[in-house]
Parts: sequence; C-alpha cells; structure tokens
Amino acid sequence: MLLLLLLASALLSIPVQHVSALPNPAVVAAPPAQFTANPSIGSGTGSYKDSAHFRVYPSDADSDATLKMLEAAHSCFVEGMGWRSPGLSYKNAASATETGPWYKTNVYKVEASAMPGAAAQTWTDANAGLAYLKVVKDYMTTPGVVVHEFGHAMTYSEKNWIDQTRTGAWWETIANFIADMYIATPTCQAAKSAAGLPDGDTLIELKKVIGDSYQVLVDGTSGTGNYYQAWPFLSYITTNPDSYPGLGKETIQNMIRKYKINSNETPLHSLERLLSSSSSSGGATIQKLVGRYWARMAYVDIGHAKAKAMFESQRKSLNYANLDANGNGKWTVKSARAPRYMGASILPLKSTGANVSVVVTASGGNFTATLAVKGSGGGVRYMDLVNGSGSVALASGEEATLVVANTPALVQYDAFSIPADVNKGLGFSVQVTGATA
Ligand SMILES: *[C@@H]1O[C@H](CO)[C@@H](O)[C@H](O)[C@H]1NC(C)=O
Ligand SMILES: *[C@@H]1O[C@H](CO)[C@@H](O)[C@H](O)[C@H]1NC(C)=O
Ligand SMILES: *[C@@H]1O[C@H](CO)[C@@H](O)[C@H](O)[C@H]1NC(C)=O
Repeated sequence: MLLLLLLASALLSIPVQHVSALPNPAVVAAPPAQFTANPSIGSGTGSYKDSAHFRVYPSDADSDATLKMLEAAHSCFVEGMGWRSPGLSYKNAASATETGPWYKTNVYKVEASAMPGAAAQTWTDANAGLAYLKVVKDYMTTPGVVVHEFGHAMTYSEKNWIDQTRTGAWWETIANFIADMYIATPTCQAAKSAAGLPDGDTLIELKKVIGDSYQVLVDGTSGTGNYYQAWPFLSYITTNPDSYPGLGKETIQNMIRKYKINSNETPLHSLERLLSSSSSSGGATIQKLVGRYWARMAYVDIGHAKAKAMFESQRKSLNYANLDANGNGKWTVKSARAPRYMGASILPLKSTGANVSVVVTASGGNFTATLAVKGSGGGVRYMDLVNGSGSVALASGEEATLVVANTPALVQYDAFSIPADVNKGLGFSVQVTGATA
C-alpha cells in the first residue's frame, strides 16, 4: 500500500494564528494568468519546468505530464469548485479579498530512498505559509499520488485545520477524495479533456469501506484504520443526492472555512454547524446525515457511477458476516463487528415474503436504522425506521438491506488515537419477519 503522508512534524509545528473569523473569500481579485515563481519554497535549484501555476524540479521527460495533470486539477478544484489556490499563503486566508501574491506551487521529483514507504509527501514552509510537494520519481505522472498531494496543499491553503490535531486524519480522507474526484468523476472531466487527459478507475476500496463499515467513520489507527478509504462519505456530502440544505459542491471547503477557530473540534462538529444553519429549511441532523450515508452505501448509491459499478462487480466478495442467528427470526450483531462511533452494520436481507418487517433493539445508545430497497431497474428507495421499527412491501424484483448506524451525539475525538468509549460497538439485535438476515 502506498503511504501518502502529510508529515505531522511539518504540519503540526506551525504556530497557531489567532484570527477571530474567516469570512469566505467571496470577493476575489482576479489572479494573474501566470503565478510568480518562488524557488525558495523547498529550496529549488537546478533545472525546472514551469506551467501557469506550478514549477517542477528538475525538467525532464516527465515534467510536461506532471504539469498538465496539476493544471487540470487546479482548473477543476480551484477555478471550478472554489477551493483556495495553494499558490496563496495560508497566512492571508483571513482576508475577504484575495490580493495575492500568487506563487507557483513547487513540485520536487525525488528518489524512493528519500522517503521510505511513501510515494509522495506534502511539505510546508511555515514562514511563507506555502506548501510544496515531493514525489518519488516513479509516481510523477500518477494522479492517485500527485493529485492526492495537491489535495493536501489546497487543504493547507484553506488554513483553519492547520495545527488542529482532531482534524489530522481527515487530511488523508480529503486528499483521497480529491484524487478520486479528479480521476473518476464527471466533475473534473472537462478540465481533463481540455488537456487531453483520460479518466481512470475509482479509488474506492469497498473491502474496507463496506467490509469494515463497523469502524469509526474516520479511523486513523495505524494498520487497521480507514482514513485513506473513508472518503465516500465526503463524496456523499459533496454530491448531496438527498439535497440537504447547507451541503453541496463547497461542503468540504466550508467544513474548513466554518471550523471554529483554534477549537480543535472534529470535522464532524463543523459539518454539524453547516447543517444546523439550514435546519429551519428542511436540513438534516448530523445523525440523520450519517445514517443516510450508510443506508446509501448498502448499494453504493451516492451519486458516483464508477463506485456503484465497482460495487456491482465486487458485491459477492464483500464481508457481510455481521450477525449471529438466535433462532425464531432474531439475530444479534457480532460484538467484534458492532458499529462504533458513526459506523454502521450493513445487513442484506433475503426476503421470504412480499412484506418484510424489522424491529431493531439496541442496548442503550442512539442509532439510525434504515431499510434500503433496490428495484430491478437499479433505483433505490429508503425508509427511515422510526425507533428501529418498520415494514416494507416489496414489489417484484425488489431486494432490501437493513442498515443500522451508531449515531450518538457528537463527541470530540482524535482519529489517530481513538478513546475506548468512542471505539466501543453498539450492541443490537433485530427481529425480522418476511426475510432472513
Ligand atoms: C419513539 O420512541 C420515543 C421514546 O420512547 C417515543 O416518545 C415516540 O413516541 C416513539 N415514536 C414512535 C413513532 O413510535
Ligand atoms: C406488513 O405486515 C405487518 C404485520 O402484518 C403490517 O403491520 C404492515 O402494515 C405490513 N406492511 C406493509 C408495507 O404491507
Ligand atoms: C441520544 O439522542 C438524544 C436526543 O437527540 C440526545 O439528547 C442524547 O444525548 C443522545 N445520547 C447519546 C448517548 O448520544
């Protein structure tokens, strides 16, 4: 597995800046067509190749391909999606009007021995407030690596999560979300095809996201965590197929921009604030949002065509062994796979009749249970199970999956060091009629 690290030492050593508020940079002075070279960021020497917003050291046979890819990413995310350019110092992020200076982001091609176990790293010049990329030579033209690091550089430019350790693991989740969006979604297609660049396969790792869906939603535990794989949640809240007010193409940027300054809160707290500012207009609670995300993951119905296609092809091989049978239509979740904080149990049902009814009983704690019902045409409908109970009449060709998400009130946690109470599964049992689980 590639390790795409954002060096904690470089990231976390940045002194915290005290600013009272970060207005959206709604008024943006027009950036220059060509950003200014700044070799001092990462100490650039020797040959180089420039594009409008980037500089690659050294100039060689890969340079043009690297620059083309990064320019397409800049076009898609900065010009198209409203991310703050990594060419801007994070130190100026608090101003309502961007006045620059705008610098080319430096990219350094390095030997594999320079970063054992990693394909690339994002480094930072904390004095300048600018990021630069180091990429192992074998990966200079690999978007899953280079655009991932570009995602780190944009996150850094957005500023508010710098030095906030409870956001730490989420930087990787965002970087893979950015890389996948670039590679495999229609969002960046225009920017890529303008440069003659191809689409590629989605980065989704269903064996982890679905097979280990019981894990904490973003878990940065070394070796067993899911923080590189958890990005479909970010995809869901950006694509927003449920049209929840407060969410949309700038959801992730707003989770950073509306972050409570220097609070070290979790990204979910910031997301909850985005939702609640819209609650009067039909918004969702964070618990409902997470519950519905997992319900949509029953059939990977998150507005991501390539992820859904991959689900269809891998579905039979995924681990759904979440329950133990108690007899008489009753099942209990295996304790090792009981859903932890904001994680879920995805439980495909085999219907034995046209009317499937379920009653979920949890051993204390709040959960969100949903029936996802997929029709023969591929469309999925969702039924909220109020207090864990409900039934559905299946039409011919329909199949149902029960999804139980552990959705308590938000807690503060560091995904790199999850406290035992956050990592504790929610025990539950389920009584099913008209189907087996
Ligand atoms: C759900 O449970 C709560 C608390 O026990 C109760 O007040 C409420 O009426 C229940 N709702 C339904 C629809 O059964
Ligand atoms: C399914 O059966 C239950 C129990 O007989 C009944 O209460 C419920 O209304 C039925 N649901 C549907 C959707 O037909
Ligand atoms: C369960 O939900 C209620 C109502 O939203 C909330 O007040 C309570 O704190 C929650 N309990 C837990 C353990 O999260």
